[in-house]
Amino acid sequence: MEMVPLAPGCGVEVKGIGLADAEGGTLDAIKKAIYTHGVAVFRGQDAFTPQAHIAFAKRWGGIDINNYFPLTDDHPEIAVVRKRADQVTNIGGGWHTDHSYDQVPAMGSILVARPLPPSGGDTMWAHMGEAYDALPDELKDEIDGLEAFHTADHIYEEGGLYAKTDMGSDLRGQGLKTGATHPIVIRHPHTGRKLLYVNSAFTVNIVGKTRDESLELLQKLYAAATAADNTCRLEWEPGTVAIWDNRTTWHLAMNDYQGYAREMHRITLTGEPLAA
Ligand code: SIN
Repeated sequence: MEMVPLAPGCGVEVKGIGLADAEGGTLDAIKKAIYTHGVAVFRGQDAFTPQAHIAFAKRWGGIDINNYFPLTDDHPEIAVVRKRADQVTNIGGGWHTDHSYDQVPAMGSILVARPLPPSGGDTMWAHMGEAYDALPDELKDEIDGLEAFHTADHIYEEGGLYAKTDMGSDLRGQGLKTGATHPIVIRHPHTGRKLLYVNSAFTVNIVGKTRDESLELLQKLYAAATAADNTCRLEWEPGTVAIWDNRTTWHLAMNDYQGYAREMHRITLTGEPLAA
């Protein structure tokens, strides 16, 4: 197995392994790489069928079924991240980290390229350990001990962000209510590294402040989160699989392929409680 960084502060490409058969020490090395680099990319994984995708996720740990995305007919464990050729809006087109609105957010996701557009549709990640480390000391002091409230309701509810777009009717879960409070700086449950844990999609306010009172500080943190030197970008090919850590990264799906379809299969992996 060979590991090649995707960018100095984010991501790694793992070469020389077949994910469908990865287990034991190989799986442990993959987990360590993802916890550290935030996202790992695997090319040429043609044997990673839906059955292999599910079996790998179960070897990793538990599966969190996504409450909003369509599920595949044959495999309800697999969510479909799909944009049809006639749709304008994509899923995940703004920076976010999945499931931060859950009290125990999902650890991460395993995303598999299915039909791809002829070009475009890359995914980007930003490393929240690098983002935290680069904050000025006075900003680190200011956020030390603070918590923030996260919800997905404004995104997915009836009348919410997606409902106003041509993606709205493809999604489920409009009636769900979500909400969770997390420290603004968490420690990674496995590496112990300090990570910035707010995101511009699901974080609504700092605990003890209104949204308006929270925005100035949140926006400073968001600007630091996506500084160019903590991001990496993946150009998908048939057979590419990416696995990322939601605690360590934010991600964004580029929506630059209007008139073409793009479909990805996603399994979300169960996480563990977060702490400062
Ligand atoms: C997502 O999980 O937010 C979608 C990522 C992608 O489609 O590239």
